[in-house]
Order: sequence, then C-alpha cells, then structure tokens
Amino acid sequence: MTDTIATKPLLRVLAGERLAIPPIWLMRQAGRYLPEYRAIRERAGSFLKLCFAPELAAEATLQPIRRFGFDAAILFSDILVVPHALGQPVTFESGEGPRLDALSDPKALARLRREIDHGVLAPVYETIARVRGELPPDVTFLGFCGAPWTLATYMIAGRGTAEQLPARLFAYRHPQAFADLIGLLVEASTDYLARQFAAGVEAVQIFDSWAGILPADEFQKWCIEPVAQIVAALRKRIPSAKVIGFPRGAGTELRRYLAAVPIDAVGLDWMIEPGFARDCVQPLRPVQGNLDPLALVVGGEALDRATDNVLGAFAAAPFIFNLGHGVLPDTPIVHVERLIARVRGAARGG
Ligand code: CP3
Repeated sequence: MTDTIATKPLLRVLAGERLAIPPIWLMRQAGRYLPEYRAIRERAGSFLKLCFAPELAAEATLQPIRRFGFDAAILFSDILVVPHALGQPVTFESGEGPRLDALSDPKALARLRREIDHGVLAPVYETIARVRGELPPDVTFLGFCGAPWTLATYMIAGRGTAEQLPARLFAYRHPQAFADLIGLLVEASTDYLARQFAAGVEAVQIFDSWAGILPADEFQKWCIEPVAQIVAALRKRIPSAKVIGFPRGAGTELRRYLAAVPIDAVGLDWMIEPGFARDCVQPLRPVQGNLDPLALVVGGEALDRATDNVLGAFAAAPFIFNLGHGVLPDTPIVHVERLIARVRGAARGG
C-alpha cells in the first residue's frame, strides 16, 4: 500500500504532496468525443447496457488511458446506476439525457428499496476488477458516485432540469420525506463506494453537480452534511479510503464545505475566482480543476492561455490538473493532446 502511494502521482497529491508536473485526468474523459467510444457504445446498444457490460465498460475506462496516457482512469459508469439499483429504473434517451419515473410526492418514496441491490451493481464491480488487472502501474484508478442532493434532483424531477425546481420545492414542502430520501442515499452511496474499494479502486470522487443552486442553509443540510456522513462512514469501514469532493458551483461556500467534510482533495469548477481558490481553498486541501471545458473545445491560443492561467494559479501547491466540468462531445482530440503536452511541458519549463 505504501509502495503504491509512493509511486502513483495522483495518489501522492491526494496525500498532500506538490509535484513539479501535476497529474492530469479529465472528467468525462471517456465519451462521445472519442471514435473508439462511439464504436463500443453502438455495440452495446444503449448507454445503460454499456454501463452494465463489464467487458465493454472496462474497455471504455481504458480507452482514454491508452490514447492520452492520463494519470488516472475513472470507472466507466454513471451516477444514476444508484437510483436504478434502488428500484427506480433509469433509461437514457439518445441525445436527451436520463429519464426516470419521477418521485413526485412523499408516497412515491415507498416504491424505492430500503437498501441498494448489489446484484444489480455486480457488473460494475466486475468492471472494476477487470480494469484493475490492466492498468499501467503509474495510473490511479478512480471510482465515483453522485452526491445525495444531485441524485435526488434527478430522482424527483425524473430528468435533468435547469434549476432543480422539482427537488427544491419537494425539500421545502416535504422536509421529512426529503430528509428520509437523502438518508437512504447516504447509506446506499456509502455501501456502493465501500464495494468499489473492495473491488479495486484506489480513490473515489463524489460528484455534487448541482450543489451550487442552493441557498446557504439548504447547502449545509442537503450537500455538506450528507457528504460528510458518507465520508465518515466510509472511513469507518475503509480507514485509508481517499476521497475527492466536487461540489460544483459552491464558490465561497467551499470554506464551510471543507471545514465539515473530511475529503482529501476538492474539485474546482471553472467559475470560481482563481485568487480566492488559491488563497482560501488550496491551503486547506489539494485542489483539482479547473479549466473551462469550452476552452478545450475552442483550442489554439485560447486554450493555451486558459491552461497557463490554471497552472499559474494552482501549480505552486498540491494540485491535480482537470477541467472544471466534463469534456463536451464536440471537443477535438487534437486539443486534448495539446493540453496534455502543455501541462507536462510547461511544468518542466519547456
Ligand atoms: O468521467 C468519466 O469518463 C466516467 C464516466 C461518467 C459518466 N457520467 C459517463 C456518461 C461519469 C463520472 C458520469 C457522472 C455523471 N452522470 C454526472 C456527474 C457529473 C456531471 O456531469 O455533472 C451526472 C450529473 C450524470 C448524469 C448523466 N449521465 C446525464 C445528465 C447524462 C446526459 C448528458 C449527456 O452528456 O449525454 C448522462 C449520460 C452519460 N454519462 C454519457 C457518458 C459518457 C453520455 C451517454 C452516451 O454515450 O450516449
């Protein structure tokens, strides 16, 4: 274990070390911008079938590692397999995003299982075991889950919504039922992450994509506290578990988040003010981020400038290079290559 931590760059940063060349990986590094991904996605028939087909999902996990040599591989799956395993089936309409049978009132919660069905998730654990055996020795293997608040927004609305109104209204109108749902998701997520570690991941990221939409009190109740509970319960089971938190849009609330949530590193979205993040967030924990995904779509000088700004802000302290959100489908592959060369070259002074 100590050996692994000593050799893998990303794990070294999670342990608090600053590296001259920051490790780099990208959220959504597997996906539609890669022709080899589109090919296996077609073979699988649907996105969800791909998530639950271990041989193909392992292949999707490894594709960006082979092509780009990233420092981390992230399990190919989706945050919405958790509601699926709680008895709320998910489908993905081509080009339209996820669809679930919306939990529109407190009575609908009775449709959910009380515990996550690990039988449904068995193919995910098998994917992890397959990838683990094939990863290059320097590459860190990341698992992940959605944070309870972000999962709840999809479960209640039954789809992605711009401002998460259905979930926010539900939380105000039915606070007890909403707290029960969040509690169920805390337990399910803890269990799910513990199983991912047992199957072979080395660190996990908790995606709270919609954290930034909540008022301060609600952010405390529905984002900070549940994620703090997950991390604490996970560490009871796996004391060495490494966790990256990503409360997207949290802004200045990140200080409060980091005071309460015992994560090892924090993801920064592209909207955060770099001076604030460097002076008030990075002294508290290693940071990961935060290139604007649109700069990667545009490429050229705009990409170079944005890359240099990120390195200039964060590379002097413990830092993992990443985007501020996922790779967009129309991202040209040559731009990703240019980004990696610049991060690894510039840091060497080249
Ligand atoms: O990062 C990776 O490469 C690992 C795989 C991964 C996916 N989704 C694959 C995916 C991860 C970590 C996620 C997380 C996820 N999924 C989040 C949190 C991060 C974020 O983006 O905010 C959320 C909110 C979801 C839910 C989800 N999945 C939505 C809203 C959509 C539709 C939007 C879209 O881009 O199509 C998905 C689909 C999805 N998840 C795709 C991939 C590769 C595209 C599906 C396809 O191939 O047709």
